[in-house]
Amino acid sequence: MLPLLLAVSALWAQHVLAATPADWRSRSIYQVMTDRFARTDGSTTASCDTSQQDYCGGTWAGIANHLSYIQGMGFNAIWISPITMNLQQSTSDGTSYHGYWQQDMNSLNTPFGSENDLQNLISAVHAAGMYIMVDVVFNHGGWDGAPSSVDYGDFDPLNEQSMYHPYCAIDYSNQTSVEVCWGGSTNVPLPDFRTEASNVASTLYSWASNFVSTYNIDGLRLDSASHVNMGFWSGLESAVGVYCVGEVYDDRPSYVCPYQENLDAVLNYPTYYNITDAFASTSGDMYGLANNINTMKSTCKDTTLLGSFSENHDVPRFAQQNGDINAAKNVLTYTILADGIPIIYEGQEQHYNSEGGSGVPYNREALWLSGYNTQATLYTTVAQLNQIRNHAIYIDSEYLTYQNWPIYTDTTTVAMRKGADGKAMITVVSNKGSNGASYTQNIPNTGLPANTETTEILSCASLTTGSDGSLTVPMAQGLPRVYYITSALSQSGICGH
Ligand SMILES: *[C@@H]1O[C@H](CO)[C@@H](O)[C@H](O)[C@H]1NC(C)=O
Ligand SMILES: *[C@@H]1O[C@H](CO)[C@@H](O)[C@H](O)[C@H]1NC(C)=O
Repeated sequence: MLPLLLAVSALWAQHVLAATPADWRSRSIYQVMTDRFARTDGSTTASCDTSQQDYCGGTWAGIANHLSYIQGMGFNAIWISPITMNLQQSTSDGTSYHGYWQQDMNSLNTPFGSENDLQNLISAVHAAGMYIMVDVVFNHGGWDGAPSSVDYGDFDPLNEQSMYHPYCAIDYSNQTSVEVCWGGSTNVPLPDFRTEASNVASTLYSWASNFVSTYNIDGLRLDSASHVNMGFWSGLESAVGVYCVGEVYDDRPSYVCPYQENLDAVLNYPTYYNITDAFASTSGDMYGLANNINTMKSTCKDTTLLGSFSENHDVPRFAQQNGDINAAKNVLTYTILADGIPIIYEGQEQHYNSEGGSGVPYNREALWLSGYNTQATLYTTVAQLNQIRNHAIYIDSEYLTYQNWPIYTDTTTVAMRKGADGKAMITVVSNKGSNGASYTQNIPNTGLPANTETTEILSCASLTTGSDGSLTVPMAQGLPRVYYITSALSQSGICGH
């Protein structure tokens, strides 16, 4: 009897600890690129030339030492780079500092630290009441050399050629090709896992289930999800039992949303494109932004579980496109307060602009070079936004599942509502920029009671609703506005309440 009892209770413990999609809905995630966030030596001066595509020295121990920087912005989860052992040599495409060129899934990527360091980081994250999400690659390995030179015996656990698709270069207009052909370059090709083969799938499922329970992982970010056959994902979900969010790098809701039938969630790439387009200039498409809200609601299974972001390690920094700090505030406001689980990429709070070039690899600046400045303007903005979101979650049981909707749109303004009647949060964003003229905009359909005082939580100014519950919002310098009923802010610490 004893062994059986032990087995049952171990299963029970695992089940209780597993973080479900519903658990994740209330979280706010800070995306850490492990090599670029913090070094074990705590240096704030160690150089990191992004153009070199080389390891800069960030580690798991470094992250553990800087959790308070992340918590200070109100985040309660982190996403870290893949942790599996990558190819270690320097190639003509740089090194594996990003973690996406794995070879041995049963060993850890030594430049990021030891097994003990990883365990310590995860314990520290949990002790701080936060969740840990790990980036995992179920699509490919990485090889230094021509596709024909791959030695499959160097990989683990998929160590036979038959476990991989034969080499072909991806034709992005052909979904079969996207799934079976190889990413990467001909210098560093990415041998493509034959995930539709049952022996490959079952090997990866047991690897994943073991990985999640061994390290107490709360969630997975699935790299290259659209490069893997859709059928693989439902099996993975059952094997791991934790929230999984897939990368489907595409601007079309009709392409991205179907992945949510097999995965808890996907990263909200369609909305990412609409956000950056809307605020990139004073003529950005605000109607596109507002329409996207409804398009996503009608196309995706559940927008409240999607990963909302406006920057990541693969796309250009917003400040590259528009350096205006008030535009950046609107981007953050929309990202954190729309439907979905906010994900802010390290450096966004420091207004990094990927000096030297646009996109990869320039968008992977070392965070330590900011000196972990907690006085930075956008650091404060992120903290304010996470704080009001966390408070709304606490006050309003419907806040997270109430799907936001645009209540007012014109060529420069979008207002949206999220939250139950009488408790709605009203967010007004503008693309007029810092030099934009002041104006007053009446916002109807707020769901707020009549003649009631609200607080604009970014400036702490109060504004009373009209007899129809509408807000007559003073807009200035293209700043975003976020309104919440003042009496509901009691004990929140927001604006002195
Ligand atoms: C799509 O890609 C697959 C895999 O490479 C290939 O077999 C097929 O012929 C391609 N289809 C078209 C229409 O090009
Ligand atoms: C934004 O969204 C609209 C409606 O969903 C879409 O038609 C448009 O192409 C999008 N714009 C961008 C830049 O992605």
